[in-house]
Amino acid sequence: MEAIDAIMTRRSVRMFEKRQIPDAILDKIIRAGTYAPSALALQPWGFVVVQDQAFLTHVSDYCKPIIVKLLGDAHDEMSDAFRTLLESKESSIYYHAPTVIMVIGQTESQFREIDCSLCAENMMLAAHALGIGSCWIGSTGVAYDNKELMEGFHIPEGYSPVGTIVFGYPAEKPEAHDKKEPQVTWVR
Ligand SMILES: Cc1cc2nc3c(=O)[nH]c(=O)nc-3n(C[C@H](O)[C@H](O)[C@H](O)COP(=O)(O)O)c2cc1C
Repeated sequence: MEAIDAIMTRRSVRMFEKRQIPDAILDKIIRAGTYAPSALALQPWGFVVVQDQAFLTHVSDYCKPIIVKLLGDAHDEMSDAFRTLLESKESSIYYHAPTVIMVIGQTESQFREIDCSLCAENMMLAAHALGIGSCWIGSTGVAYDNKELMEGFHIPEGYSPVGTIVFGYPAEKPEAHDKKEPQVTWVR
């Protein structure tokens, strides 16, 4: 798949087949992440690959009511759909994806959030080019201050979470969507 095609047809995927992604493909996705640019070429990222569904359900069940509370009175289309999903007992903030990868960054690295986000986007584009769906799950953020749950992610000393992404073979194919016209200022 051409780079521009991959960029323009990638969508967040939230329904997955049960079959697991082979380790070699996950390795390719992670390696694609590491080809992202990083400030001073420090490459401050690391990866926690989680395939323990019982643990993911445990994290999700903790996060769901907190996110519902945070949604508060917001009643736009996306908030309403998200609230309905979170209030259903069977739902998971990880959409029952077979693999969840937490991108972690060296805590002391000044640009870790930017570097790791670039890395994460590379991973999502690479996954798409390989026929694998993905979605960034910011919802994990509400669990960052829960020591017990964070211990379950086995984050190595000196690293902190930056983002969590679900991966799996898509069981839905969202259409490419229109984007807002960009605000562009030319100075020349
Ligand atoms: C920082 C960040 C956090 C996100 N968190 C969630 C999330 O918790 N749950 C979810 O379903 N989607 C989440 N998304 C996905 C966005 O909803 C999605 O990217 C957006 O609606 C645009 O759709 P697209 O990715 O299909 O282009 C997140 C995306 C980003 C960049």
